[in-house]
Amino acid sequence: MAHQILQGKKGIIFGALDERSIAWKTAQRVVAEGGQIVLSNAPIALRMGKINELAKECNAQVIPADATSLTDLESLFEKSMEVLGGKLDFVLHSIGMSPNVRKGIDYTSTNYDNFLKTLDISALSLHKVLQTAMKMDALNEWSSVVALTYIAAQRTFPGYNDMAEAKALMESIARSFGYHYGFAKKVRVNTVSQSPTITTAGSGVSGFDAFFHFAEKMSPLGNASAEDCANFCTMMFSDYTRMVTMQNLFHDGGFSYTGVSQGLIEDFQKAFTPTEVGN
Ligand SMILES: NC(=O)c1ccc[n+]([C@@H]2O[C@H](COP(=O)([O-])OP(=O)(O)OC[C@H]3O[C@@H](n4cnc5c(N)ncnc54)[C@H](O)[C@@H]3O)[C@@H](O)[C@H]2O)c1
Repeated sequence: MAHQILQGKKGIIFGALDERSIAWKTAQRVVAEGGQIVLSNAPIALRMGKINELAKECNAQVIPADATSLTDLESLFEKSMEVLGGKLDFVLHSIGMSPNVRKGIDYTSTNYDNFLKTLDISALSLHKVLQTAMKMDALNEWSSVVALTYIAAQRTFPGYNDMAEAKALMESIARSFGYHYGFAKKVRVNTVSQSPTITTAGSGVSGFDAFFHFAEKMSPLGNASAEDCANFCTMMFSDYTRMVTMQNLFHDGGFSYTGVSQGLIEDFQKAFTPTEVGN
């Protein structure tokens, strides 16, 4: 179903780790729609080598960058403009990592060095990407920057740990930078709040499997897949959405506005006797 809606557009896709990654699916979709891309990931993630398969398929170069390093980001934007032959039109920030989640450290006994790393990698990196792009004047007018987020920024999901703060901060950065970049260069910045998705980052969250099924049953349309998310991001990079900026856009099959679904009520009724429910 390609319509070439990104014909002539060029950009950077951060965060394709393996074929389950949202960034991986987005890279494939963007290229199918006529876009040209550079793929980037942290040097340590590139050691897996998986990304080279995607690069071949997408006819893309891979340029390493730790998204917390301003030096790496400057070099990435410089090389990307060289490789793609000019300023860019879109950026996908699909980056998230919490050392506390990874090490199984509970939210209430957090390790603060880890917490700061979570914020740097998962939130401030968006500011660093935007600030670098702006300083280098690397983005064309009407460019679109999309960062992926999760509804734990607005509501509490216990297993999400310090990533909740990271996502809340990142969404705020998208609004604030979107304001400044919009007035300065008509560049738009949005976050896409995605359903639980089975990926390396997703499955790292404790109780993910149960939660994935809960969200599936709660959402009128079911969970949005990584492919659905890729389609949505691709549309956000296109000129069809050129007046959308500073938004947090829920891409979750209706989860965010559902109080409870009938299916979940019925499951609950089956699991508990009326007395237990009353208690
Ligand atoms: N999977 C889900 O359930 C879900 C739901 C909503 C939002 N998201 C968000 O989607 C985004 C993509 O995650 P995913 O689910 O595709 O998982 P993923 O594990 O495939 O992608 C996360 C990526 O972040 C990269 N990364 C980590 N540290 C980095 C650094 N310092 N510099 C550059 N890159 C770095 C990793 O190498 C990896 O490629 C993340 O922001 C995640 O929080 C995921």
